[in-house]
Amino acid sequence: METTANQVLIVDDEPEMRSVLSDILKDEGCVVDTANSGEQALAKMQEQDFAVVISDLNMKGMPGMTLLKAIKRLHPETNVIIMTAFGSIESAIEAMKQGAYDYVTKPVKSEEIALTTQKAVREASLRRELLWLRRAVEKEYSFNQILGKSKPMQAVFELIRRITPSPSSVLITGESGTGKELVARAIHYNSPRAQGPFIPINCAAIPENLLESEMFGHMRGAFTDAKADKKGLFEEAQGGTLFLDEISEMPLSLQAKLLRVLQEKEIRRVGGTRSIPVDARVIAATNLDLAGEVKAKQFREDLYYRLNVIEVHMPALRERTEDIPLLALHFVKKYAEPMKKPVTGLTEGALALLMDYAWPGNVRELENVIERGVTLTRGEKIASEDLPQAVRGDSGDRHMIEEGAEKTRTLAEVERAYILRILEKTAGNKYQAAQILGIDRKTLYRKLDEIEKQRTKS
Ligand SMILES: Nc1ncnc2c1ncn2[C@@H]1O[C@H](COP(=O)(O)OP(=O)(O)OP(=O)(O)O)[C@@H](O)[C@H]1O
Ligand SMILES: [Mg+2]
Repeated sequence: METTANQVLIVDDEPEMRSVLSDILKDEGCVVDTANSGEQALAKMQEQDFAVVISDLNMKGMPGMTLLKAIKRLHPETNVIIMTAFGSIESAIEAMKQGAYDYVTKPVKSEEIALTTQKAVREASLRRELLWLRRAVEKEYSFNQILGKSKPMQAVFELIRRITPSPSSVLITGESGTGKELVARAIHYNSPRAQGPFIPINCAAIPENLLESEMFGHMRGAFTDAKADKKGLFEEAQGGTLFLDEISEMPLSLQAKLLRVLQEKEIRRVGGTRSIPVDARVIAATNLDLAGEVKAKQFREDLYYRLNVIEVHMPALRERTEDIPLLALHFVKKYAEPMKKPVTGLTEGALALLMDYAWPGNVRELENVIERGVTLTRGEKIASEDLPQAVRGDSGDRHMIEEGAEKTRTLAEVERAYILRILEKTAGNKYQAAQILGIDRKTLYRKLDEIEKQRTKS
């Protein structure tokens, strides 16, 4: 679509009017085109981008008001100036309500229409330039919907570009919410397998006894509920990519079977005897330190090396705070548009709080905070008071300790409240909660068991 900043379209069913207006606006340096009806105007707008449309309200065929509504829906970037008959102020008001940029009354005075058009052109081109700039920024600072301008993220993009052509296994590591699944998809959709399927399995979400048949399929009668033969996800991923999410949660027995499949590139369905060749690239992800799990004998060392041919580590958001404004604005746009709220950004104060916060839930948490902010704010910018307590500062925690002292709570009571508070903060993520609390996961589980017992007792 061709675009010049000062393209103007004149819509009127009177030839005389079209030619008079054309002359005036050409003298003003506009590039002018004309249409004799709303229908013709919309057809021309499909071929060509206009900064401004000037339209009569009363025309044969499509009424000017209908044209205005169609333009606002199909080409919201275009400014529309309406011409109304002298004395019909109601229709002018209605046009402004429907999103017209301005109106002029007939008979049209040449200086008035020239001035109004100039203003509308300038405003439209400014808006378009901003839009263009924003797109350029997002393009440079993003890789397939993954945004990031920081050095560590640019390094991730570079690594993804290098590894996509190869069939090697990839292990994606990083805290919860850092974008591991986004990366897995980006690798797949940029690889030679892009036309093949991308099949995710969340190893933590599928009960242990079902995981094997989910992955490898089963034969009829292999177990009580196996009423028919069933393909597993490995077979579904044929020619594509299998994404094994939360790989650390895979039971040890199944780890051995997975290792064999990766080595031999064939599977056997549960209850089956035939080997079926499979060709699927495997990408695994974990938010645990898998090497640590290997040391603790929770994860097979040989499988670890098999999966970890290439490691992509996703940096935590607090290690790349320069990405926060970019991501925050991206999410403002993402949520403001469907909610139809005129929110365009954040106040300086709110942004400063976002930059200061530790983001245990990383980008996912930032996205939730912004969605909440867009919902709550009454202004054009999300302000500090639209942010949750956790982001606004630690005064909440301090408050809790002071309150504990005042009510002479026992240490155990304060500990219990603090653990529950941190769990709330991490949205129930126990790995992160344990990290923040500075205890290992097993200790956290034990303490949670105790809390549960206390609760059922009282
Ligand atoms: N760099 C990024 N740019 C844009 N959106 C992002 C980015 N990183 C994460 N997100 C968004 O944050 C959310 C969480 O991302 P994703 O599910 O990929 O994280 P994850 O690392 O797999 O988390 P978990 O370990 O909890 O499964 C998604 O909605 C994703 O679109
Ligand atoms: Mg994930």
